[in-house]
Amino acid sequence: MTAEFPVARPRRLRRTAPLRRMVAGTRLHPAELILPLFVKEGITEPNPVGSMPGVFQHTRDSLRKAAHEAAETGVGGLILFGVPLHKDGRGSGADDPEGIVQLALADLAAEVGDALVLITDTCLDEYTDHGHCGLLTPTGEVDNDATLERYAAAAVAQARAGAQVIAPSGMMDGQVAAIRAALDADGFAEIPILAYSAKFASGFYGPFREAAECAPQFGDRNAYQQDPAGPVGESLREIRLDLAEGADAVMVKPALAYLDIIRQVRDIVDVPVAAYQVSGEYAMVEAAAANGWIDRDRVIMESLIAIRRAGADLILTYWATEIARRLA
Ligand code: PBG
Repeated sequence: MTAEFPVARPRRLRRTAPLRRMVAGTRLHPAELILPLFVKEGITEPNPVGSMPGVFQHTRDSLRKAAHEAAETGVGGLILFGVPLHKDGRGSGADDPEGIVQLALADLAAEVGDALVLITDTCLDEYTDHGHCGLLTPTGEVDNDATLERYAAAAVAQARAGAQVIAPSGMMDGQVAAIRAALDADGFAEIPILAYSAKFASGFYGPFREAAECAPQFGDRNAYQQDPAGPVGESLREIRLDLAEGADAVMVKPALAYLDIIRQVRDIVDVPVAAYQVSGEYAMVEAAAANGWIDRDRVIMESLIAIRRAGADLILTYWATEIARRLA
């Protein structure tokens, strides 16, 4: 009788929770998670980000608390974004030693610098009054090469303040080489660069632009970030260029809509690959869950597993502390 039924029975390995746990091929570990945090100049109370329930623009004080919490749960690192009070055309706050990111970094370096990795996003959009990621030409285009000097200055200011990894996110050509040279010249040859190499012009960044107050005041980022429908192989080209310029780790961003890119990158590089589960990915899950339309905890874990399974070694996620706690 049994011969009429299948002999190979994949379900055998799924029958009990201990069996499924034992044979799991994809695991998450808190050390692979990186928590993005926002610190805002001139506020006295943490300011909730409306489109990202549970995420705040922090004061220097509440930032410390959030960083301690992340460290205690075993999160691998945090990535810091600054929101200055005053913005201008050249993004002066980005490399001001008294700028909010630099001051907050010094706090964190003193308090949690040994417990987790302090990463800084290096870009100009949070600091420019026009909201673009670089300096503008008189006709309003982003000036690639003039911007590189600003990135170099910002990266050095961040390293001096205590940043342990520099993460350039502006998608200018040559940004990794320019930052590498500046760090080396300033005595920071040992500081790694985590390059946002394959970063797409994405609608999923919407809520972040509220959190970091960095929406472009005109136009969009399509002339510097990758086109979601761009040339086949463009991401790999970006990745190879960044590695040739000295990147120590690379990133794909956003995550869930670009799992194919994460996999392609993982298959060709021999450095850690990070994926950024961005603000819109977070907001969609929180909003649907708040409506009772999906099982929040289940969907969060499923999305992180998918990103990991696609090949990401590191995941930037606003849920890092919560998930680290859940994994404990
Ligand atoms: C640029 C930057 C952005 C994000 C991280 N770094 C915004 C953008 O490119 O417009 C988005 C992150 C998110 O959406 O969570 N400094």
